Amino acid sequence: MITFENVTKRYHGDVVAVKELSFTAPTGKLTVLVGPSGCGKTTSLRMINRLVRPTSGTIKLGDEPTSNMDEAILRRRIGYVIQHAGLFPHRTVVDNVATTARLNGTPKKQARTIAMELLERVGLSEAFAQRYPWQLSGGQQQRVGVARALASNPKFMLMDEPFSAVDPIVRTQLQDEFLRLQREMSKTIIMVTHDIDEALKLGDQVAVLRVGGELAQIATPQELLTRPADGFVADFVGRDRGYRFLGFVGADGRLAIRAEPTARLGDTPETARNAARDRWLLVIDDQGKPLGWTEPASLRGPIRTGDLNLSSTFATENDSLRQLLDAALSSPSRRGVVIDGKGQLMGCVAVTDLAALLDRSPEPATARTGVGHAV
Ligand SMILES: Nc1ncnc2c1ncn2[C@@H]1O[C@H](COP(=O)(O)OP(=O)(O)O)[C@@H](O)[C@H]1O
Ligand SMILES: [Mg+2]
Repeated sequence: MITFENVTKRYHGDVVAVKELSFTAPTGKLTVLVGPSGCGKTTSLRMINRLVRPTSGTIKLGDEPTSNMDEAILRRRIGYVIQHAGLFPHRTVVDNVATTARLNGTPKKQARTIAMELLERVGLSEAFAQRYPWQLSGGQQQRVGVARALASNPKFMLMDEPFSAVDPIVRTQLQDEFLRLQREMSKTIIMVTHDIDEALKLGDQVAVLRVGGELAQIATPQELLTRPADGFVADFVGRDRGYRFLGFVGADGRLAIRAEPTARLGDTPETARNAARDRWLLVIDDQGKPLGWTEPASLRGPIRTGDLNLSSTFATENDSLRQLLDAALSSPSRRGVVIDGKGQLMGCVAVTDLAALLDRSPEPATARTGVGHAV
């Protein structure tokens, strides 16, 4: 647990970066600090590992005020990941990671073994170990940054905009992988971001700060979406919050999955036309996995990959209504493709069936909590 008690930071006596901040980041959970640029997020984080000294107030790790701790020991207990990874440029990837393990007094050889294991855990193969940071992409560097923070096996992690310097596709990947990792590790994490979508996706709880370093609200993502404390939070959480809220609502077994006619690559136009129920026909592979929709009427020969419309997203029956609705709306047939855990086709859901579910979904104010993470 990390606790802030009335923490204030004034720079040079006048700029109030953080004002009377109090909150608790519970053990094993991911707490996100989010807010506009300059609202004191980085300052708050750096006060925890004493890179910045609070002007007043107390920060505790567990029951222990950090002001009483030896700085070197404090920093060893806390993994720290920053934007652009901040790797040592003249050390190889494996040495970058091993350095943190060495801080604990781990012998060299063992530190290397730990480093290699961690690189694999964050999704980097052995081939990367001997490279230098400049030989990696931004996303790969961030992975090394996460591995390096984990190498001293800290209970606590601080992450300052760890995924914001990479492109949106890589960012989504890194977020998903990090969520998976955190489910196994259960570290006590405080992460900073300016991106509300990232905050709602990753946070077990989210603290919204306003400029001047004041806490506007701290709550679960669901609560922020459904019960913003004031106009600032409502604006910050955004106009799409009704739609985002669907990310936390499941179909709970009420989904009407209907059988969908299919064709395979190589089928003739005639076979496809006979199979189709309307303008669009779903094409699956030999394992029964959906590939995409095709328009039988416009086929000029046996179905090829080039004949497929690949715009659809697929959902599973356990996904949120947001994902199911996205599957339906991104599909040219307006039928959402539902797959099972192995990626095989179960059937399709119609927009009208989803609309009926939405009509009967919980009201925002009584939404269930603790559902997990929106995607
Ligand atoms: N070292 C510093 N000296 C003086 N002012 C600072 C310093 N670091 C940050 N600030 C000011 O403190 C406020 C909060 O900054 P920061 O914590 O970096 O915000 P955020 O990370 O939310 O963008 C800003 O007004 C910023 O200009
Ligand atoms: Mg910052």
